[in-house]
Amino acid sequence: MSFRFPNEFLWGGATAANQIEGAYRADCKGLSTSDVQPFGSFGELIGRQEGDFNIKDTAIDFYHRYPEDIALFKELGFTCFRLSIAWSRIFPKGDELLPNELGLAYYDNIFDELEKYDIIPVVTLSHYEMPLHLADQYKGWRSRSLIEFFERYARVVFTRYGHRVKHWLTFNEINITLHEPFTGSGVPRDSTPQQLYQAIHHQLVASAKAVKACHDLSPDSKIGNMMLGAIQYPLTSHPDDIFEAMQQNREWLFFGDVQSRGYYPSYMMRKFKQLGVTLEISAEDSESLKETIDFISFSYYMTGCVSSHKKTHILDEKMLKMGSNPYLKTTEWGWQIDPKGLRIVLNLLYERYQKPLFVVENGLGAVDILNGNGEIEDDYRIDYLNDHLYQVGEALQDGVEVMGYTCWGPIDLVSASTAQMSKRYGFIYVDRDDKGLGSLNRKRKKSFYWYQGIIESKGELLTAPSE
Ligand code: BG6
Repeated sequence: MSFRFPNEFLWGGATAANQIEGAYRADCKGLSTSDVQPFGSFGELIGRQEGDFNIKDTAIDFYHRYPEDIALFKELGFTCFRLSIAWSRIFPKGDELLPNELGLAYYDNIFDELEKYDIIPVVTLSHYEMPLHLADQYKGWRSRSLIEFFERYARVVFTRYGHRVKHWLTFNEINITLHEPFTGSGVPRDSTPQQLYQAIHHQLVASAKAVKACHDLSPDSKIGNMMLGAIQYPLTSHPDDIFEAMQQNREWLFFGDVQSRGYYPSYMMRKFKQLGVTLEISAEDSESLKETIDFISFSYYMTGCVSSHKKTHILDEKMLKMGSNPYLKTTEWGWQIDPKGLRIVLNLLYERYQKPLFVVENGLGAVDILNGNGEIEDDYRIDYLNDHLYQVGEALQDGVEVMGYTCWGPIDLVSASTAQMSKRYGFIYVDRDDKGLGSLNRKRKKSFYWYQGIIESKGELLTAPSE
């Protein structure tokens, strides 16, 4: 690519505490909602018994191996690293008044290590987990009390780390509650639309209060939202299909609308009426929502097609129920691969919000097989990432303000939706299988050296996607 990404562009990788750390009871950590989901975010929930197996209990043992992993990130050339704080390490039950010092000290160590290598932390406050006690006792975000608990947690971490962490995200994929309520907000899966949207409202208020706390306590920090940016295309040019796609995209854009504008968009008012949903929104809530985010962040993995006339073939029933597109291929897990779609989403979000954008997740989950020399030649991953990053470069040239790109899972980690280790995203291979067997040793894949070159050349080594 003849274009060079801007000098200040952040290059890195993204992770979540429950998918890498392990050490699920270490240093007084409380159980989290992820700890009772051993089969992944769409799987059955279990009660914890002594000795039962959840691959995330150890995950990739980042909790203990972080110095080695962060050194590898440095070798890759990362200028930033996205991680999440496990809320249940800081407030093991979630409703305590005082935080757990051991949990706070653990993240001090992580930030020390990142600082040693000049890697900028990008920190998510809640990534697909919360203290289990809040789900059990309060029905998760259905309870208004969670606003206060979350604000307390946010204030504690901004006070502790605000002098060294300057990039924050509130809730990972805040729109996921509409697809998987327990993962998104710890609410029972059989919650009614009324209960779901009320829980979402509480989260939106809590997110705005965290933004306010961040602005107060760490004024030179930037704080953004995080949405699952899976865009839907109309299957045909029939106006009904165009409108249907618009409506479906509003299901996720609605979150960005509230978080960046500070009030509910009118189309949601109509939707609530149609669903028979009456939200309890206090005057104080409306005031809180006015504290808006500094930037928009999102994950990008796939696109889908919708039609109000024709039945589309649904890919991966368990996940987002995206309709198939005859022009696109899918991953081994049925996720539709659409690099150009990333340029489309970047342009769409920038035109809609006029705020800086951050691509905080994107990547290919694939099975990696070691060759005869014990190496991993993951050209498929290189192709996928090349083609997507190329489109980020195109969007930058379109004039879209993109702050950075953190690909998902720079080191192999446990899959969120399926809890598999074999669904690998990394540049760094981790020797562990789906049953939890393996040495946990790390190994550089071919893509490791490729990404290193891309970062070093500021994108110049990206090649035009083959048609
Ligand atoms: C995103 C989540 O939806 O997708 C991550 O924020 C997740 O936590 C990623 O890991 C990829 O999904 P999966 O199911 O392949 O791990």
